[in-house]
Parts: sequence; structure tokens; C-alpha cells
Amino acid sequence: MDPSASELKQRLAEAGQSHLLLFWDELSPEERSGLTLDLQGMDFQELNGFFKKAVELSRSCKDEKIDSRMEPVPQEVLGSVTRDKESLKCWEQTGLECISQGKVAVLLLAGGQGTRLGVSYPKGMYDVGLPSRKTLFQIQAERLLKLQWLAEEKHRRKCFIPWYIMTSGRTMESTQDFFSRHNYFGLDKDNVVFFQQGMLPAMDFHGKIILESKCKLSMAPDGNGGLYRALGKHGILEDMGRRGIDFIHVYCVDNILVKVADPAFVGFCVQKNADCGAKVVEKSNPTEAVGVVCRVNGHYQVVEYSEITLATAQKRSADGRLMFNAGNVANHFFSFSFLKDVVEKYEPQLQHHVAQKKVPFVDAKGELITPDKPNGIKMEKFVFDIFHFAKTFVVYEVLREDEFSPLKNADRQDGKDTPTTARHALMSLHHRWVLNAGGHFIDGNGTRVPAIPSVSRCGAAGGVADDGNRTLKDGTDLPIKCEISPLVSYGGEGIEVLVKEREFHPTLIIDESGVHQLVKNGLEDEEEGKVLFGQL
Ligand code: UTP
Repeated sequence: MDPSASELKQRLAEAGQSHLLLFWDELSPEERSGLTLDLQGMDFQELNGFFKKAVELSRSCKDEKIDSRMEPVPQEVLGSVTRDKESLKCWEQTGLECISQGKVAVLLLAGGQGTRLGVSYPKGMYDVGLPSRKTLFQIQAERLLKLQWLAEEKHRRKCFIPWYIMTSGRTMESTQDFFSRHNYFGLDKDNVVFFQQGMLPAMDFHGKIILESKCKLSMAPDGNGGLYRALGKHGILEDMGRRGIDFIHVYCVDNILVKVADPAFVGFCVQKNADCGAKVVEKSNPTEAVGVVCRVNGHYQVVEYSEITLATAQKRSADGRLMFNAGNVANHFFSFSFLKDVVEKYEPQLQHHVAQKKVPFVDAKGELITPDKPNGIKMEKFVFDIFHFAKTFVVYEVLREDEFSPLKNADRQDGKDTPTTARHALMSLHHRWVLNAGGHFIDGNGTRVPAIPSVSRCGAAGGVADDGNRTLKDGTDLPIKCEISPLVSYGGEGIEVLVKEREFHPTLIIDESGVHQLVKNGLEDEEEGKVLFGQL
């Protein structure tokens, strides 16, 4: 072993991590240098400290329920798309004006591993099977483009919404490559900025780092709250400062309905002078495993379902809604100055949370074991861990069926948050846009389809193939096949002229080239070329 290797050996021994060199004698020179490089870049004392604190935090959360210290979000900080309809236009105008002045940026959290979905490539590259076959990245890019056009049109000045995309060591290269191959989906390349979040090793329950092979540590991204450290490390705040960004919209890659840089949400937060805002959807079922935004000891935070008793989760207000109903969807607004304070002052105070996972490992004999129950932990920070530093915090409630349908799991019968439920959610939304704009759908018998399929029923249809008849074995309806390109409409606006008082057979597609219907070719669920119905 050369001097640098023996120094490394010493450091590992001091940190109780000597087992990482267990197979040293069996390794090839290349494997040895790879392992040495990985280990040299690590601060083991810091890692051990993270582990200790994360385990303490997780124990204290388990031991103590925080019900008695919780208060719901007060009315005065709450905005709602349903209850504040008269203010919506005004918020939207403020947001659009900020966008037109180049003050708004978006920050995409796309560093996750998508383990549950089970694909080897970044989730943003996933195609949920829409008629257009667009991926999540493309849908989001096109919404941004459209919003830029809307702001430009209204304020008569050219504007850009810089898009900061956080990836991880595992997703950086493929994400960049994907954007480059698709010519940034029409966006200006200079306004799409990729940066990489940190990675941490997985540890066993005793704090020993896990080896995934004889010469490789098991590494995972450090949670979406790794954002703050990464923003500092990669000079992203400086970049935002140079561009004159004042407001930032943060969101997750896996929500197919996300309103990227939502002008109404941005405008609401700006008008309230907020430094931090959270978009929420109503939690309607007490046992739904979603975190809720609330106040604890006077400070805002997200409280997980597991941190409270069932009795508290079931509490209802006078209006019959759950008292703690502000369901967190990881969709946030930050003022630039707040984000700067978080990165420069508060980040080191954030603690890691513990997630117990099944982590494949090599045993003492060097054999790869795939465990069938959790054997280790991953340490993660969460994007919302910084809420309690906010001085002016606001909450903005939106409709789940309009804005939130995350892609988490692979398709299976009755699955939740799957490609099928995401696809159906988007098509149902677009179906509603057409109806709201005065269009109609007719079924195979030439009769008008009377109602909109309910969202919950669409969800229940997850995993069942669309047979084109819109009826499943259990009698429930599938959504009408209808897709409107974000390049045509950002949020349902502007389609009246295309659909009003017209009747359409599904599949209906409205894109930049016009209004199309796909005709069946006789084979089940197979569609033949587009029929142009009207030109844009
Ligand atoms: P999830 O917690 O759902 O994780 O991420 P995931 O990686 O998508 O899926 P699983 O848990 O491995 O199945 C919510 C959002 O946070 C991002 C994800 O990309 C997603 O947009 N995220 C998650 C990060 O950016 N970094 C992380 O370390 C973890």
C-alpha cells in the first residue's frame, strides 16, 4: 500500500469504517484506484455525525407525537383557487408581469432515483403513453415556452424563464444528453442550467457504510433537500443573481399536471410579500399518507402522517373538512433573498432524515446479497425542511385533479400514482378544458357524452388497458382520449376559438398544427393517421 493509501487506511480505522478495504488484496490495480478515489473524497467523521444525528432525530420523532403543539394553517395566510376566484386574475397578472420582467426562475428537482417506477433512466424521460408520446421533460419545457409567449404577448417584451435542473451523479449525463438530443425542446439552451446534487453512502443500522461490490460503495442522492447545498456548491445563486431573479418556483419532475412557474401562484406569493410559499392540495382522507403543512410551536413545517395520532388526523373543522388538510405536494415559492439566506446561513442546521431501505450488499465472503427486508438506511434532507426559517409564509390551495398527479410506481392493476393514472389525469383535465370552452364529445353511437368521468374513478382504473369503449369490466368509465399541447394552451386558455360548439370523436388532439381526430383502423385500440379538423 502506498503512503496515501495507508493514510486512508488510518482515517478509515479512526472512523470505524475499515471494512471498506476488506477485499483490497483481491482488487485489480484499476479497482484499487477507483475505490481509493471514492474514499479520499469522503469526510468519514462528518458522515458518522450525520448518521448519529439522523438516527437520534428519527427516534425522537417515533417517541414523541407532536399533536398538542400543532395548529392548522391560519386563514390569513391562505389563498385558494376555489374560494378566492375573484382574486385569481389579479394574482395571475402580477405573476405574468414578474415573468415578463425576467424576475422568475424555475427550479426542477430531478435528482431522484425513481426506484419504485423501476426504470434505469431519469424519470423526466418517461413517456406515460399519451397520444403525443411526450415525455415529462417535454411537457414541462413546452409549458415554460408557452408561458414565456403569454407574458411576452401581454407585456410586449421578450422574456425568459431560466430553468435550473437539479440532477444527481446517477442522472446528470443522461439528462443533459436527452435535452441536447431534443434541442432543448425549443427553449434557449443558455436558459437551461443543469447542476448536480450530492450523494451519500447507504449505511447499515450500526452506521457502517455498505459496499455494493468489492470495490464500490452503495451511494444514493442526499434527498431533494440536498438542493440547498448544491445551489451553493455550484454557484447557482450567483447565476440567479446575475440574471436578476427575484422569485423562484420549485417543483418535482414526476407531477404530470405541474403548472411550471404558475403565474397565479407566483403572483399570490408576491402580493403577500412572502419569502416562502407552499402549494397544497386538500387532504380529504385522514389516513392518506401525505404530509400536511401546519404550524408547530408557531413555525411552519410539514408534519408526516406517522408523526401524529389518528385522532388528530381525523379532527374536522366546523365546515366538515379535515382540520389538518393542507396536503404538501413539494411545490414551492421562494424569494431570492430567502433562498440566499437558506443556502448561506441555515443549510448546515438542516438534519438528515432516515429512510429504511433494502440495500443490496456484498457479504464478508464477497457475495452479492439482495435483501428481502430493509437492512440499511439512506440519509436524506427534504426540500421543505427550511419552512421554519421563513418570516412570511403563505399557503396556496389548488385542486388536486387540476394540478397534482405524481408518477411514482410502475403500472399494475388498481395501482396508485402510475403511468396510467398520470396519463388519465392529464387527459381528464384536457377533456374538462374542452367542455369548459364549449366543445362536446360524441361516442361511437353518435350520442353526446354527457358527463366528465370522475377523477377518482379514473384513478381506480389504473393499470387497466384502455379498450377504446371507455367502459371497464366493473362498469366505470375511462377518460376520453384528449390531449392538448402545452404549446397551444398553458392552463385551458385560448381554445374556445377551436372547440366552441363543435363535436369531437375521441381521440382528439390539439397541437400547433391544428385540431385533429385520430380514426380507428379496425384493430382494437390502434389508431390510423390524423384527420385534420381545423387549422390553427
Ligand atoms: P421521491 O421522493 O418520490 O423519489 O422524489 P424518487 O426518486 O422520484 O422515487 P423513489 O422514491 O426512488 O421511488 C420526489 C421528487 O424529489 C426529487 C425526485 O426527482 C422527485 O422529483 N428528488 C428526490 C431529488 O431531486 N433528489 C433526491 O435525492 C430525491
